[in-house]
Amino acid sequence: MHTPRRKSPLGPPEPFNHVRKSGSLPIFVVVFSIFLFALVMYSGDIWSLAELSFDRFKSLDFLPQSNQLENEETEQGPPIPDDVVDGETVMTVPETCDLSTGEWVYDDVAYPLYREERCEFLTKQVTCMHNGRQNDTYQKWRWQPKDCSLPKFDARVLLRRLRGKRLMFVGDSLNRNQWESMVCLVQSVIPKGKKSLRRDGSRHIFHAKGYNATVEFYWAPFLVESNSDDPDIHSIPERIIKADSIEKHAVHWKGVDYLVFNTYIWWMNSAKFKVLRKKATNWTDYDEILRAEAYQKVLKTLSKWVDRNVDPNRTSVYFMSMSPNHFRSTDWGNPEGVKCAKETLPVLNSMYQSLELGSDRQMHRLVVNMTKLMRRVPITFIDITRLSEYRKDAHTSVYTIRQGKLLTSEQKADPRTYADCIHWCLPGLPDTWNELLYARILVATKKQQ
Ligand SMILES: *[C@@H]1O[C@H](CO)[C@@H](O)[C@H](O)[C@H]1NC(C)=O
Ligand SMILES: *[C@@H]1O[C@H](CO)[C@@H](O)[C@H](O)[C@H]1NC(C)=O
Ligand SMILES: *[C@@H]1O[C@H](CO)[C@@H](O)[C@H](O)[C@H]1NC(C)=O
Ligand SMILES: *[C@@H]1O[C@H](CO)[C@@H](O)[C@H](O)[C@H]1NC(C)=O
Ligand SMILES: *[C@@H]1O[C@H](CO)[C@@H](O)[C@H](O)[C@H]1NC(C)=O
Repeated sequence: MHTPRRKSPLGPPEPFNHVRKSGSLPIFVVVFSIFLFALVMYSGDIWSLAELSFDRFKSLDFLPQSNQLENEETEQGPPIPDDVVDGETVMTVPETCDLSTGEWVYDDVAYPLYREERCEFLTKQVTCMHNGRQNDTYQKWRWQPKDCSLPKFDARVLLRRLRGKRLMFVGDSLNRNQWESMVCLVQSVIPKGKKSLRRDGSRHIFHAKGYNATVEFYWAPFLVESNSDDPDIHSIPERIIKADSIEKHAVHWKGVDYLVFNTYIWWMNSAKFKVLRKKATNWTDYDEILRAEAYQKVLKTLSKWVDRNVDPNRTSVYFMSMSPNHFRSTDWGNPEGVKCAKETLPVLNSMYQSLELGSDRQMHRLVVNMTKLMRRVPITFIDITRLSEYRKDAHTSVYTIRQGKLLTSEQKADPRTYADCIHWCLPGLPDTWNELLYARILVATKKQQ
């Protein structure tokens, strides 16, 4: 079993709560009990077997159901060209279209892209309606870029692109938020028994068996090595990084076909940042330097690694821009607000220009500069910052967990202390981040062919 998890305000991984929603649990328990009973009768070697089975169960490697296996086989049928679905050509957007400038449009027909209760892989951290939020209007907004439209997200198209491939999100809890969204976006078209979720240390792996494809998340909040790398217990007040040391994590990224990086929120605690000296032998031997300077060092380490280790003919690399917080309601002109807790609508058009939430634009520019300087291996910058700044309504707020437990009614009544205005409900905003990523993946794959 995993070690008990502690909750930091920035959100460590939470235990997956599929069991709560899995309808197959009672049947499984009954069948398994009979099975165990039979074993007691006929074999002495029961414990190792029980352990093995529980491990399987824990990993949510759902038992395949034979009729669905057949469906999957026929469903795939003869090979279909990647850009044709149901006889229709998949629309792509020009690479030059700026996807990050536009507006939110209410659309309760196409959105949400999946139902909260239908995605068994969601963690309690993000299931806001289940956690007591009353109004689901936040799920029903479509991002409309100014100069083109996002292609309609089609899970089958993406899964065909991912056949025999790995898509991996690498970064902090916001990237995990996005990974959870991606798992839900693709899982609905995969029958039970043909999908599974397991965890291997810092890595969460969603496996679409029929496609031999994985959608993974790798915990590395600073990308480089740090004293916060433990995927469970990382809520360390004094954060220290090894700015030029990335191999410990990066060895797990090698050979991945789509790499999606982010790192931001963990940088925002202080203006100065602790960076271990080059020859240091322990975590006490560090320098304090300006945040931007440390961030730049890390980006340099990352870009060097990408340049030396990624085969651009095989792998596409993306960098997600920072996800904003909503802590001061006066920033969007609501003096009556309490952080993000009372917000029910996105920021609307008229306020777009004046909105200033304090997202660190310098760090934004540093990433843009890094991606511009890449020569051998391109890194595609996906800018979700501005469009996310408008979404003051979309955070988990008090409809989330703390130290592994749902907030109590007393805590819910005290949003000033307890509202999480960093992470996002699902379905919700991160689905849009994935629609942008999807648009870029469609184009990238075309080029490779
Ligand atoms: C499954 O995908 C992995 C890469 O993710 C690849 O190495 C392996 O060869 C694939 N297996 C089959 C049977 O296609
Ligand atoms: C940590 O390393 C520094 C120099 O490398 C040394 O002076 C110090 O004694 C070490 N501290 C501990 C607790 O080992
Ligand atoms: C990528 O493929 C092209 C054409 O097949 C080849 O010329 C080029 O050397 C390859 N690049 C790398 C980095 O392998
Ligand atoms: C949900 O919130 C929206 C936006 O504030 C509001 O227009 C709508 O009436 C609310 N719906 C319900 C059922 O309360
Ligand atoms: C980004 O690059 C431009 C041009 O090379 C430079 O003028 C600018 O200062 C850089 N920005 C940052 C934040 O480093």
